[in-house]
Amino acid sequence: MNFISKTMILSLSILLILPRTSYSLYQKPINHINTITFISKSFEMGPGSIAARTFMNIEFPKGHIGIKSFDAELVDQEGNSIPSYETYLHHWFAIKYIENFTMSCNPKLVHSEDLIFQRNEGPCNGFILPHYWGFGVESRGTTSNIPDPFAIELGNPLKVPNGYEEKWLLNIMAIDIRGAQDKKGCTQCRCDLLSLPKNFYNVTRDIHNQPLTTNYKGGLFCCQDNVQCKLSEGFQGSRRNISLRYKISWVDWSEYQVPVKVYILDSTDKVSSNGSKAIHDCQVEYTIPKIFGSDFPNVQKANIPMEKGGYLIYATAHMHSGVVNATLYGQDGRTLCTSTPKYGTGKEAGNEKGYLVGMSVCYPQPGSIKINDGETLTLESRYENEFRTGAMGHFYIYLAEKLPQIY
Ligand SMILES: *[C@@H]1O[C@H](CO)[C@@H](O)[C@H](O)[C@H]1NC(C)=O
Ligand SMILES: *[C@@H]1O[C@H](CO)[C@@H](O)[C@H](O)[C@H]1NC(C)=O
Ligand SMILES: *[C@@H]1O[C@H](CO)[C@@H](O)[C@H](O)[C@H]1NC(C)=O
Ligand SMILES: *[C@@H]1O[C@H](CO)[C@@H](O)[C@H](O)[C@H]1NC(C)=O
Repeated sequence: MNFISKTMILSLSILLILPRTSYSLYQKPINHINTITFISKSFEMGPGSIAARTFMNIEFPKGHIGIKSFDAELVDQEGNSIPSYETYLHHWFAIKYIENFTMSCNPKLVHSEDLIFQRNEGPCNGFILPHYWGFGVESRGTTSNIPDPFAIELGNPLKVPNGYEEKWLLNIMAIDIRGAQDKKGCTQCRCDLLSLPKNFYNVTRDIHNQPLTTNYKGGLFCCQDNVQCKLSEGFQGSRRNISLRYKISWVDWSEYQVPVKVYILDSTDKVSSNGSKAIHDCQVEYTIPKIFGSDFPNVQKANIPMEKGGYLIYATAHMHSGVVNATLYGQDGRTLCTSTPKYGTGKEAGNEKGYLVGMSVCYPQPGSIKINDGETLTLESRYENEFRTGAMGHFYIYLAEKLPQIY
């Protein structure tokens, strides 16, 4: 009894003393990082089916905050991680918009004029690659974490117009490839009208209900909600409900946070000029021909002028299986970042053999790499020399326009 009360008093006094000592050890306030995990609305999938859910509203932390990370993966109804050889996460991405607060209180009143999309700072045209976060099958092994004291600033009351609030939409495309005759063909959305066995979805019209042309070999235009990829004879598999589980971490905004801006660059961007202004035309995806007798990887390259520059804080690439690497160069040829793939070697979710399970991220010492205003960057995405459709080569960079005092 005596012993117990002594221990209790001792631990109580430790509890009382500890916060004080650790407080006085730090000159700067410690960032309190909040983390919350959400689960999206579920969607039912069966073997061979595609779920291409356009834009569902999602929950998001509120207030004037700095986002430090946003990670996502597919889970079943029990919350188990689903391996890519069962349900392939083609992509997910999160888009910001602002909405008239009065309208959003009454969902029946929502008109499209009351939703105003707010794209990232990247140069792609119009509504192409407008998102802040988004990856695909590589999601589990690609970190979105932003080092201190940098963060993506949201909910700044001076920047959100009066009467509006910031909200988020999620777009997901997943393909259930259990029992598929050709898993690669399904994940690449192959729909070649000239080679019907390779039209894995048996489609003749695209997502906009226009007839497919014979030179379109596959890609996003064929992968429509609820079309069916060919299954092996007699394959039986159960239907199940799938959701995207996403984890967001953030800090409350303060004078210690330094904002970064998000740019998404596309290696298919066809840049032209109308005199003073660059015109961008991002294709988002492309088809890679196989060159017979060559060992060299396919290189897709774009020269992309940046209106505004900044210090490079974070960089990574969104690519598909078959990627060799992707590199972003400065105008003088210096390498800003190379992102390299990690392929799985096992069975468990996040390490599926033969699947792309992660892309490396560059974290240059803040201040060491500066992109100048008006500098033209060169993006090269490299894939193995093998025929593939729906290939992507996107590069995500976060730029800070100023550095914290300590650097
Ligand atoms: C929001 O919508 C209401 C109702 O239509 C309107 O009265 C108000 O002016 C709108 N607010 C803004 C900031 O546009
Ligand atoms: C392919 O589509 C056509 C018409 O859309 C249909 O008649 C045919 O049965 C389909 N084939 C398969 C294997 O589903
Ligand atoms: C999926 O969820 C819906 C809604 O909760 C439910 O009606 C349906 O039966 C579920 N499907 C399966 C295969 O569990
Ligand atoms: C990227 O791939 C190319 C082509 O295979 C290779 O020459 C280069 O060394 C790679 N870069 C890095 C950093 O891995």
